Amino acid sequence: METRVLKVEDLDRDYNNIIEAANVIKEGKIVAIPTETVYGLAGSIFDEEAIKSIFIAKGRPQDNPLIAHICSIEQVNDICSEFPEKAKELAEKFWPGPLTMVLKRKECVPDRVTAGLDTVAVRFPSHPVANKIIKEAGIPLVAPSANLSGKPSTTSAKHCINDLNGKIPMIVDGGECKYGLESTIIDASVTPMVLLRPGAVAIEEILQIVPDLIYDNNMIVDDGEIPKAPGMKYRHYAPKAPLTLVVGEPRETAKWIKDNSDQEDGVICFEEYINEFNGNNYVLNFGSYVNEAVNANRLFKLLREFDEVEVKRIFIQCPQNKGLGKSVINRLKKAAGGNIVKV
Ligand code: TXA
Ligand code: MG
Repeated sequence: METRVLKVEDLDRDYNNIIEAANVIKEGKIVAIPTETVYGLAGSIFDEEAIKSIFIAKGRPQDNPLIAHICSIEQVNDICSEFPEKAKELAEKFWPGPLTMVLKRKECVPDRVTAGLDTVAVRFPSHPVANKIIKEAGIPLVAPSANLSGKPSTTSAKHCINDLNGKIPMIVDGGECKYGLESTIIDASVTPMVLLRPGAVAIEEILQIVPDLIYDNNMIVDDGEIPKAPGMKYRHYAPKAPLTLVVGEPRETAKWIKDNSDQEDGVICFEEYINEFNGNNYVLNFGSYVNEAVNANRLFKLLREFDEVEVKRIFIQCPQNKGLGKSVINRLKKAAGGNIVKV
């Protein structure tokens, strides 16, 4: 299959490309689209064939449900049977934006979307291109991250081409994603609410509205709680080369990586320590240690850069355990498949 890449740089000037993408979706086909978090692989929520092709293109296990993307708060009522007051409050504060809420679903949502659950995950993206494509399609769109299953999420059209060229009919190129990390997911169908995935909205921000939010501390690296070599082999967000997450004070982790890596290895380090790796061939800048939002923004892009230069191993300094740093740590623990060193 030929994959067409349509650019949308200026919403008004390139609006015909938005219409084209929406038309492809209305025909029951799937399109990679930009969102403010990561690129999504979008199809009609009501089209079983489209949903099937999303799972096939990604190589995604059928038991992993999809997020429904909407373009107005009112659209929640088309697919959800309940919209609790507290969830409405979160919607008012964070939508449009990188928060996903799991809510009780309506019967009209196909089982294939929810993997048979009685809930559906809902997100109202703020990216203008995503917003207009959903509007023009006229129905909510399901969209998992537009990467091959198991690989880092895609944050540019180039990443989508690398993973999905020849497998889908269309990619809409809307430039680089603002956050570069997926949405924060909250189960808002239960009381108290539960954090399912830390993401581009910091947990601290959610706690201001939902102080009794339940979240599993195991998702986050806690001082003194890190198993040195757990047997957990499941990898997700994984680059080609084995990744080691090095946890500790940044000065110490930089030193550990320097002492334990060689010329064929890739290093992702904070900008404060770049100069210490002058002898190393492949050093990428994670941004400043004090700016977790930049670390979050660069994570997937940097991991994918190492896929292109074919490094032997990758070492990465662990960001601070606060704000978006917590979400980055969550992804890194999975990408490292338990390969965590504490110094
Ligand atoms: O930022 C994002 O959320 C991106 C962009 C494209 O919107 N999408 C995304 O989708 O990250 P995906 O499919 O890669 O991750 C969705 C996660 C999966 O871990 C899935 O298991 C979970 O959401 N999920 C979906 N529906 C659910 C439900 N009803 N209950 C619990 N978890 C659900
Ligand atoms: Mg994903």
